Amino acid sequence: MKARTPLNDLKIDPALQELICQANQAKERAIAPISGFRVGAALTTPQGRLYSGCNIENISLSLSICAERVAFLKALSEGEREFTSLSLVSDAESMITPCGACRQLIWEFAPELTLIMANCHGEVKYAKIAELLPQAFTLQDLQEKKKA
Ligand code: THU
Repeated sequence: MKARTPLNDLKIDPALQELICQANQAKERAIAPISGFRVGAALTTPQGRLYSGCNIENISLSLSICAERVAFLKALSEGEREFTSLSLVSDAESMITPCGACRQLIWEFAPELTLIMANCHGEVKYAKIAELLPQAFTLQDLQEKKKA
């Protein structure tokens, strides 16, 4: 197993490091009594505002919600409509990617967003949502149906 690099020691751009640290702090606030798997996310806007989120589980399992969607719903409900990046960290050794439901939400509200996935070893991976959700179901599909 690789030695762990504290997130503060990451040799990366300070702004990016800050974003990953914010996601990591959000992860500390996760409510995950069922899975024991904590996730944190930090979402930024072009104006430099930041909205963080953690996963929140509920004993009625389907009510649980992912960190990414918490961050997005906080921001959207505050009137934000433009987003630049979303950092994501978890308790996993690997760099996790958003689940299918979160991918759909990201696709609809932030198609140009840069996803920044980090792990506890200080490794960072980037992705665009179009790479993670090819052939997405879109508003255009709904409009096609109306024409028929
Ligand atoms: N989870 C997230 O918050 N984000 C992801 O991208 C993947 C999964 C949460 C949901 C659940 O609380 C726990 O991780 C285990 O699936």
